[in-house]
Amino acid sequence: MARFWVCLAGAGFFLGFLVLHSRLCGSPVLRKFAFQISWRTKEIPYRLDVDWPKHSEYFTGATFCVAIDSLSGLVYIAQRGDNIPKVLVFTEDGYFLRSWNYTVDTPHGIFAASTLHEQSVWITDVGSGSYGHTIKKYNSFGDLVQVLGTPGKKGTSLNPLQFDNPAELYVDDTGDIYIVDGDGGLNNRLIKLSQDFMMLWLHGERGTGPAKFNIPHSVTLDSSGRVWVADRGNKRIQVFDKDTGEWLGAWDNCFTEEGPSSVRFTPDGKYVIVAQLNLSRLLLAAAPPVGSIGNCSVISTIQLADQVLPHLLDVSGKTGAIYVAEIGAKQVQKYVPMNSYFPSFGS
Ligand SMILES: *[C@@H]1O[C@H](CO)[C@@H](O)[C@H](O)[C@H]1NC(C)=O
Ligand SMILES: *[C@@H]1O[C@H](CO)[C@@H](O)[C@H](O)[C@H]1NC(C)=O
Ligand SMILES: *[C@@H]1O[C@H](CO)[C@@H](O)[C@H](O)[C@H]1NC(C)=O
Repeated sequence: MARFWVCLAGAGFFLGFLVLHSRLCGSPVLRKFAFQISWRTKEIPYRLDVDWPKHSEYFTGATFCVAIDSLSGLVYIAQRGDNIPKVLVFTEDGYFLRSWNYTVDTPHGIFAASTLHEQSVWITDVGSGSYGHTIKKYNSFGDLVQVLGTPGKKGTSLNPLQFDNPAELYVDDTGDIYIVDGDGGLNNRLIKLSQDFMMLWLHGERGTGPAKFNIPHSVTLDSSGRVWVADRGNKRIQVFDKDTGEWLGAWDNCFTEEGPSSVRFTPDGKYVIVAQLNLSRLLLAAAPPVGSIGNCSVISTIQLADQVLPHLLDVSGKTGAIYVAEIGAKQVQKYVPMNSYFPSFGS
């Protein structure tokens, strides 16, 4: 049986490879960033969508983060650099829509929160200028709606809402906000805020023990009410109860070589997708359904080319496509699930 699946996976890979190869041959740049996938199980994971976006010349800086608004089919990307647009808006089909650069200094993380009535995008800003040390909410056209933190003022150990280098945030369906602060710097915090910005709970200490952090870099929620944090400097993922903040466990056995930069779930909730920056690698790990998280188990690995440096990623709730912000390659790439291309391979 195992051999059968290996063959099937092999055949799938070969077909995928042919498609990729024929597409990539015309483009030396893209070919440089071609990738390999290794399978450890029957799961057929992802292939690079070389047609996304339609015009990659909009990537003019270091692309730090990407957020998908699945409801409206928009992809928001923030990049760093001088005299360039800081935020780029594409469609999930790959068409460029618009950009803005006002009120964004040094973007780090981004999150799209959409309801039927409101489309918004949140950006964490680690700049030292007058817009830095903040988390900002925009509407989908780039109008500034809300600023959290004290613009231009570094965090202190006193006020939890005065951020230092806020790395990322996650807004849940009820409007509650989970913030990781941050990306190096003074603070090592996970903060939960209500939708009217009252602090609900906080883990605020630097350290290696449970519920302490060293560069809490990425945060997400799963469907059973657990908060997952990529604790990069400690080479682990820590998990908390979203209502009480109670520590539920940690995964460290998958990240011995390098800590996780980014953490997200597949739309079916079955897999955790993790980026490892310097290894230029994405991992898919099995997500435990409820309660205690046990140990980490890697299902498959997507090895990107050397120096691509995947920083933060996001997953489309509609199509399951993974969008990866690659600082080294200075682009965002889209990886689509193989199953939608080889439906008969689904199991
Ligand atoms: C904003 O972006 C435009 C190009 O879209 C550029 O001409 C301008 O210099 C940028 N401004 C800043 C402050 O980066
Ligand atoms: C990646 O490598 C750079 C340069 O060696 C280093 O400064 C950085 O801390 C590394 N990042 C991670 C996540 O290991
Ligand atoms: C996780 O791995 C450790 C070390 O290999 C082992 O002692 C422990 O029992 C495992 N825990 C679970 C829940 O599998």
